[in-house]
Amino acid sequence: MDGLKRQAAARALQEVRDGMKLGLGTGSTAKHFVDLLGEKVRAGMKVVGVPTSEATRAQAEACGIALATLDEIDHLDLTVDGADEVDPALNLIKGGGGALLREKIVAAASDRMVVIADESKWVDPLGRFPLPIEVIPFGLAATKAVIGKAFAEAGVAGQMVLRTGKDGHVFVTDGGHWIVDAHLGRIGDAPRLAGLLSVIPGVVEHGLFIGLAGTVVLAGAQGIRVVERR
Ligand code: A5P
Repeated sequence: MDGLKRQAAARALQEVRDGMKLGLGTGSTAKHFVDLLGEKVRAGMKVVGVPTSEATRAQAEACGIALATLDEIDHLDLTVDGADEVDPALNLIKGGGGALLREKIVAAASDRMVVIADESKWVDPLGRFPLPIEVIPFGLAATKAVIGKAFAEAGVAGQMVLRTGKDGHVFVTDGGHWIVDAHLGRIGDAPRLAGLLSVIPGVVEHGLFIGLAGTVVLAGAQGIRVVERR
């Protein structure tokens, strides 16, 4: 599986040109991309990266990639990131690693988002992977009740579980928020659910990425498949 992730990352690297401003994703697949980009940089390629998490920032720094923030650069040429699920419309579930908020801000600031994944991430419909919803700790029970109403309106249902870390404590995001993972099973209308979740006070962001990915690079046993959004 790790070999497939690296193959997808290597294919996405072909899209990178000298001088580009790049969004750098988070997760085990994006890690391969940052690693391979580091090799290019050490061989003389000039790029500037905006990391989507503190983990990616540390890795990119160690690889010698020049970094900036979205305050210094407000527009990026390309973001390369992983995903937890991708559907045929190139809608995504992201946030398994907890970086969904910065990942979405960075993707939205980019001309183009290329998603890299092994073929196990390709699904129809979305929803087998629990949907991460980043929330403000204040008033969580009330926020969850409103999220439940949004689920009913969108025709989905499932348990909401507050994410904990390996140490058993509540998982805290880079932005200082918590994550509720919603086990929905199937999401029939992802754009509708995304719209309903986006307007709930207390919801900082959710892991449905609608209309952001332009290209998906899927690596499988049969080779690489590149899918463009129609
Ligand atoms: C991080 O918050 C996520 O959005 C990741 O991009 C996603 O979980 C994919 O991670 P892997 O490449 O590790 O599967």
